[in-house]
Amino acid sequence: MKFFIKTYGCQMNVNDSEKMGDILKKRGFSAADDENDADIIIINSCAVREKPQEKIFSFAGRLPKGKKIIVAGCVAQSEKQKILERNPNIDYIVGTHQYYQIDRIADEILAQKSKGDRGVKAQFSKVWQEAVPDIASRISRVSGYISIMEGCDNFCSYCIVPFTRGREKHRPFENIMAEAEYLATAGYKEIILLGQNVNSWEDKEKNMEFPDLLERLSAAPAVDVKWIRFITSYPGYYDEQLIEVMARHEKIARNIHFPVQSGSTRVLKKMNRSYTRAQYLDIVRRFKKKIPDITFSSDFIVGFPGETENDFELTLSLLEKVEYENIFSFLYSPRRFTSAFKLKDDITPEIKKQRLYRLQELQKNIQFKNNKTLLGKTIEVLVTGPHPKAAGEVIGRTVNYRVVNFKSDTPVGEFTRVLIERVGPYSLRAKEHAARAPYCRTLAPG
Ligand code: SAH
Ligand code: SF4
Ligand code: F3S
Repeated sequence: MKFFIKTYGCQMNVNDSEKMGDILKKRGFSAADDENDADIIIINSCAVREKPQEKIFSFAGRLPKGKKIIVAGCVAQSEKQKILERNPNIDYIVGTHQYYQIDRIADEILAQKSKGDRGVKAQFSKVWQEAVPDIASRISRVSGYISIMEGCDNFCSYCIVPFTRGREKHRPFENIMAEAEYLATAGYKEIILLGQNVNSWEDKEKNMEFPDLLERLSAAPAVDVKWIRFITSYPGYYDEQLIEVMARHEKIARNIHFPVQSGSTRVLKKMNRSYTRAQYLDIVRRFKKKIPDITFSSDFIVGFPGETENDFELTLSLLEKVEYENIFSFLYSPRRFTSAFKLKDDITPEIKKQRLYRLQELQKNIQFKNNKTLLGKTIEVLVTGPHPKAAGEVIGRTVNYRVVNFKSDTPVGEFTRVLIERVGPYSLRAKEHAARAPYCRTLAPG
């Protein structure tokens, strides 16, 4: 019997799909190349905005008849039984904390002659559920995901995640360390620590907080990887210890995803974010002072209820101050269960779209300006994969998480040095160096 997993949403969902695939393989199922080739299709869903939520229904609606369909993940958790009203062909709904039962569920629905219990299994667990996928079940042989916490206690007023992932659960230190060692021994070059709110991680028994975890992973000889990354950190508090640990260990990659959402303190307050514009800028300034080659990326929501032109211009000016490496920007999407849902979604779609366009245009100019300063520089990159469209080309990533395209036969997972030859706002083109030329480690602007 074969399965296929279609994954929507964030890296945590990707990692959960790796875990589900691994559990199914251990039960004797094999992975299909696509949905047509599979007996069971698992849709690992995302509920964060309406668009990704709708995608799961259009995907499920297009599936060939006779397949067993399971909806897992965040929409399964938030919508539960309601999903069946939209698509009665769905065989099973499994919440975010029940994925580890996927083997039993798969057996059960394959044995069913008619659609019986659709088993909405969607209760939250209070404890961390351990599941470490084997290497063969991971999507990358180069960058390995390690979930360190799940859930969120912040309740930002627009966000459904606390209702799809539950309260925070933190994984014990030993288990994180063991997975990091496992990946390093298997030859992984980079580990990426995952969580909705990684910098609130703690191991109470060990009296450890997130900077202690980074310190221990970076200093452990057995975690012989080149780069350690983490996503996502909440910029709600200033943490000198985190900055110091990062400054001390070159292994910790010089890019932080630090989602600000808005540049207006008034809007941040309505979003229930716990920091002001000035506090956010102060944290960024302190990072840059101690770690001059650090770069930042961020998420932005435009058109939050009541966002004025003045609020929006504050977001634009924040963009110019921080000079982000990269941003992800979204139109505000009202979500059921959240406290902002009862606010009037009063910014018209036209204004929302215009603001999104202006934000993205400004970022494009900032990136283009920064990229031009990189022309003629030599930089170290990790080859992460072949270029999906251009034969003979590969994609590499810098320590600042920038994508570089170049011709090369350097194997995936190896490091090489490239000379930046051409730049656009969104991409860097380079030529590979034959010799081990001296290089700049980071691509911080300036
Ligand atoms: N834990 C992360 C964010 C997870 S959700 C953090 O706190 O930053 C990923 C991104 O989706 C958010 O940063 C936000 O920009 C966006 N997002 C979340 N809810 C949204 C909504 N209702 N409408 C539009 N964008 C939203
Ligand atoms: Fe959502 Fe806020 Fe938690 Fe991020 S910190 S997951 S935006 S509630
Ligand atoms: Fe989406 Fe759930 Fe991640 S809502 S962004 S898949 S935590």
